[in-house]
Amino acid sequence: MAHKLQAVRGMNDLLPEQIGVWHRVEAVLREVAWSYGYQEIRTPVIEKTELFTQSIGDHSDIVQKEMYTFIDSGGENLALRPEATASTVRACNQHGLLHNQQRRLWYLGPMFRRERPQKGRYRQFHQFGIEAFGWPGPDIDAEVIRAAAGIWGRLGVEDVHLQVNTLGSPQAGAAYRRALRAYFAQHRRCLDPDSLRRLETHPLRILDSKVAATREVVAGAPDIRSFLDGPSRAHFDGLCESLRHSGIQYRVNPHLVRGLDYYTATVFEWVTDQLGAQNAVCAGGRYDQLVEKRGGRPTPAVGFAIGIERLVELVRGQGGDAARPVTDVYVACADDQGRAEAVSVSEMLRRAGFAVTTHCGCGKLNKQMKRADQSGARVAVITGLVQTAEAVQAKPLRNQGVEQRVSIDALVDWCRTYTERS
Ligand code: HAM
Repeated sequence: MAHKLQAVRGMNDLLPEQIGVWHRVEAVLREVAWSYGYQEIRTPVIEKTELFTQSIGDHSDIVQKEMYTFIDSGGENLALRPEATASTVRACNQHGLLHNQQRRLWYLGPMFRRERPQKGRYRQFHQFGIEAFGWPGPDIDAEVIRAAAGIWGRLGVEDVHLQVNTLGSPQAGAAYRRALRAYFAQHRRCLDPDSLRRLETHPLRILDSKVAATREVVAGAPDIRSFLDGPSRAHFDGLCESLRHSGIQYRVNPHLVRGLDYYTATVFEWVTDQLGAQNAVCAGGRYDQLVEKRGGRPTPAVGFAIGIERLVELVRGQGGDAARPVTDVYVACADDQGRAEAVSVSEMLRRAGFAVTTHCGCGKLNKQMKRADQSGARVAVITGLVQTAEAVQAKPLRNQGVEQRVSIDALVDWCRTYTERS
C-alpha cells in the first residue's frame, strides 16, 4: 500500500464533526463586528516579506524565527502572513481607504507562524481581528475592548480576564527602555540567555519572561507609570474610566508588553486559566505610527485579534459545541419512475429552506430507509410509491408521528411540522 502522507506539523484538519462550533463562533464574530459598525476586509495570505519585517520589527520572535518565507520563481521574497494588522494597513494605504475618513474594519482568516506546536499554539491558526483607524482618543480603545467583551457574552464564555497597560508616547517609551536597559544591565548575572539577548534589542520583552530567576529581577524593575507624560497618562486614565463606566473589569498590568513592535500607548490582553500555558485569547492595542511608517498619512489606530482555536476551545469547554444537523429531510425513491420526481421534490424542499439529502443510485427501499435513519434526518419522503405525481409518501423518522400520503402542495408545511426540533 502507498505511504499515507500526514498534514504538516502544527497545521490541523478541521473535520466535519468539529466544524459546528466553528460556524457558531464565526457567526457571533461577524454579528458583533456588524453590530459595532465594522466592515469586513479580506487581504491575501501571502504578502511581501518586508511588509512584516518592517511592521512587526526585526528583533521580534515572529520575524527572527517564526515566519514562513520563500523566494518565488520570479525572485520575490514573500511570506505567509503571521498576522493581519500589517496587511490591513497595507491595503488601506494602497486603496486610499483612509483619505479624510475614519474606518472600522474586521477580518477573519488563517495566519502562519513556525512556533513550537502545543495545545493552543499551532503553525497555521486563525484570527478574527478588528482595526479602527482615525480616532486618537481613548473612547475607541474602550470600544474595541467592549466589542471583545460582547463576543464573550454572546458565546457564554466566562473566566476571561482583561489586563491593560500603556507603553506611553514614543518619547516616554524611549526613556523607559533606557531606564530598563540600565536596570537589567545591573542585574545581568541573574538574567536567562534569552533575556540577555533582548537587553540590547528589546528590553521591554524581558518583562514578560517566564524564567523564575528573571521574574525576580523583573519584580523590581522600573514602572512605566513613572515615565508617562501628561497626554499619555490622560489617555490611559480615560480608557480606564470608560471601562469602569461600561462595567468591564480589568487589571492594570505594568509588565504587559507585546511581541510586536508597532504598539504605542494602550496595550491589552484577555487571558484565561482554562487553556494551560497559551492563556491569551485576545490581544491588541494602539499602533498610532504604523500607517505613516507604511507610507500613509499619519493616522491613529487601535485593534485586536482573537485566536479562534483558543476561543473555540473555551466555547467547547462550556458545552457549546452542538453541531447543526447535517440534514432535515431524506428523499428516497421506491422505483425508477420515482427518480426524476425525487430530484424535483428535493429541489423544492431546498428552496423552502430545508437541508435535503437525496438518495443517489438505486437500491432496495428498506436499505434506503436505513440510510435515511443513519443520516440524522427527521423525516423521509419517498417518491414512486404513490402512483400520482401530485403526492408522495412521507415518514417521520424520530417517533413524531405516522407515515402518510402527503400532496406535493402540502409537503413543505408537513416537513416544517415534522422537522421542528424542540
Ligand atoms: P498576537 O498577540 O500576536 O497579536 O496574536 C493575537 C492572538 O492570536 C493571540 O492572543 C492568540 O489568541 C492568537 N495566536 C497567536 N499565535 C497563535 C498560534 N501560534 N496558535 C494559535 N493562536 C495564536 C496580533 O497578531 C496582532 N495583529 C493583534 C492586533 C490587531 N493588534 C492590533 N490589532
